[in-house]
Amino acid sequence: QTSGQQQLIALHERTRDLYHHLLMNTKVGEEALAYLHGRGLSDELISEFKLGFAPSQRDFLVQIAQQDKVTAELMERSGLFIRREDGSFSDRFYQRVMFPLNDFRGKTIGFSGRLLKTKDFPGKDQPKYLNSPETELFNKRQVLFNFDKARNEIRKQGEAILFEGFMDVLAAWQADIKIGIASMGTSLTEQQIAAIERITGQIVIAYDGDDPGQAATDRALMVLAEHSRLNLTTVTVPEKLDPDEYLRKYGVTELQNLLQHGRQTPFAFKMSYRKKGLNLENEADRLNYLEAVMQDLAKVQSPVEQDLYLGQLSNEFHLTRESLKQQLQMIRQTLR
Ligand code: UTP
Ligand code: MN
Ligand code: MN
Ligand code: MN
Ligand code: MN
Repeated sequence: QTSGQQQLIALHERTRDLYHHLLMNTKVGEEALAYLHGRGLSDELISEFKLGFAPSQRDFLVQIAQQDKVTAELMERSGLFIRREDGSFSDRFYQRVMFPLNDFRGKTIGFSGRLLKTKDFPGKDQPKYLNSPETELFNKRQVLFNFDKARNEIRKQGEAILFEGFMDVLAAWQADIKIGIASMGTSLTEQQIAAIERITGQIVIAYDGDDPGQAATDRALMVLAEHSRLNLTTVTVPEKLDPDEYLRKYGVTELQNLLQHGRQTPFAFKMSYRKKGLNLENEADRLNYLEAVMQDLAKVQSPVEQDLYLGQLSNEFHLTRESLKQQLQMIRQTLR
């Protein structure tokens, strides 16, 4: 690590602490703090994760940096500022609840800011979440939110739960589930998978229950299937809820139950996911569905698991096991 990187980390951690102070102890942060409380986060959790608030003022951080004699060059490299045409700086993050993003050692290397909409600040046309840009420290393809804090528990418990959003990781943490991590709103990257694989062989995917979340689950399974040593399961949150919404609605015990006992195998997930948008009363849809699902089943390695689902499909669609097996044989031959 170069001294330039150390300076950048110091700037990030000073910024993180300032934003956190604004949130916890000042009038400027009042609305943001009330917002987080309203979403069920305790002061203890907010402090543990050092959540913060970036005020609406466009030069809050610029002024601090100038007081601290931070060079223009460092400001530019940090990604925390936007350089105007005339060379002057403004803050990249304003009117946002700030989530520090840490590297695997726990050093803060970037931020994600969630827009806080208020009466005075409707924030039209602004993205809900804004991330740090790519810098020499921050590569969003590498970062996993909460990996630094969850790592030991993941090792100990032998599994990690992958959520879609930061708020879901925090909700789980409040429910004493301390093995939750999240990628940065993008699909899982090879670097992220490699990092997880180094500490556990078991991943539970618990994305949002809505359509985009389920589509993301399907994609994640596809990416992760390449890693044949990983043991994968999925959880579909009922009523199209996010895990954090599910906690708010049904409480801690129910979220724990869901994450523990609501797990499906990848194939079971696909069996229900592929039904979306089809009318199985219709013969053509039914055949298309079976075709797709048999393709999935052909990729299932375990003969016992295969037999289990062959039985289910044969019951559900009133088909003989014999014809289903033949179909599998045919698919197998084309796969070879
Ligand atoms: P969601 O839209 O599901 O956000 O996006 P969320 O986490 O449930 O947010 P809340 O509950 O409304 O606060 C999931 C993830 O996608 C990324 C973020 O990482 C977010 O946590 N995302 C989403 C972005 O990067 N930018 C966006 O504008 C929206
Ligand atoms: Mn969500
Ligand atoms: Mn979502
Ligand atoms: Mn949400
Ligand atoms: Mn959402």
